[in-house]
Amino acid sequence: MNLEEIIYKRRSVRKYDDNPLAQETLDEIREFIGDIPVLNPDINWSYEIVGPENVKTLMRWKAPHYLVIFSEPVQNYFQNIGFIFQQVDLFLQSKGIGTCWIGAGSPKNYENPNPEHEFVILLAFGNPSGELYRNKDQFKRKDLSEISDKTDERLIPAQFAPSAANSQTWYFKHNDDGSYDVYRNRRRLNLNNRMINWNKIDIGIALAHLYISNTDTFASTLDKPHKELKGKVFEMSFVI
Ligand SMILES: Cc1cc2nc3c(=O)[nH]c(=O)nc-3n(C[C@H](O)[C@H](O)[C@H](O)COP(=O)(O)O)c2cc1C
Repeated sequence: MNLEEIIYKRRSVRKYDDNPLAQETLDEIREFIGDIPVLNPDINWSYEIVGPENVKTLMRWKAPHYLVIFSEPVQNYFQNIGFIFQQVDLFLQSKGIGTCWIGAGSPKNYENPNPEHEFVILLAFGNPSGELYRNKDQFKRKDLSEISDKTDERLIPAQFAPSAANSQTWYFKHNDDGSYDVYRNRRRLNLNNRMINWNKIDIGIALAHLYISNTDTFASTLDKPHKELKGKVFEMSFVI
């Protein structure tokens, strides 16, 4: 199955077979990550694949593997990590491997290999012990009309994107030149800084789905002149 089809089938997997994946599979994953398209080529990032003994999470379940993801903490780095590793999420699911983004976790007994990179997030993965795929009608998502200034079927891949606590905080505005602006809904109570950071990752995830669905035409631009929208934070402009 190609990555675009997976957008409409994937789900977060929270039940795993404890057995680790074969070494060749892990090598294939590293190879995929080695040539991955990024949102912002100026940002340095890194990752490691570790076992459950090297992570601490708030979850009751464990996966046999975790991607521990690090980045230079510079403008747009959360979005860049979401964009990169959502492609990995789709790739893993396309190979029959289950995945789940884990905001509520961190590496343990593990030294950050690059002191200039900050720990960003975990992605759990391994062979699922339950269902891996689902049907389109089993997704709980906002209506297209709620996530955009006008209903536009080209935004469906973003509508289906996973997000922290399924918050779906993205909002798309159409520009006269055919480009789009993407905004993030401002949280009324900013009690939880981590949630704001996860929502920035979510923006990158939604853009990864738009990129995978429009690989030849997708391009994004930061810092473009844009309208201020009440209750929303401008993230970037893009074309698809
Ligand atoms: C940035 C981010 C952080 C997440 N953190 C957690 C987490 O800590 N624990 C968990 O069980 N799921 C976590 N998830 C998974 C979401 O809850 C899930 O993607 C969302 O509810 C939509 O469901 P779906 O992935 O099955 O479509 C996270 C997802 C994202 C994108």
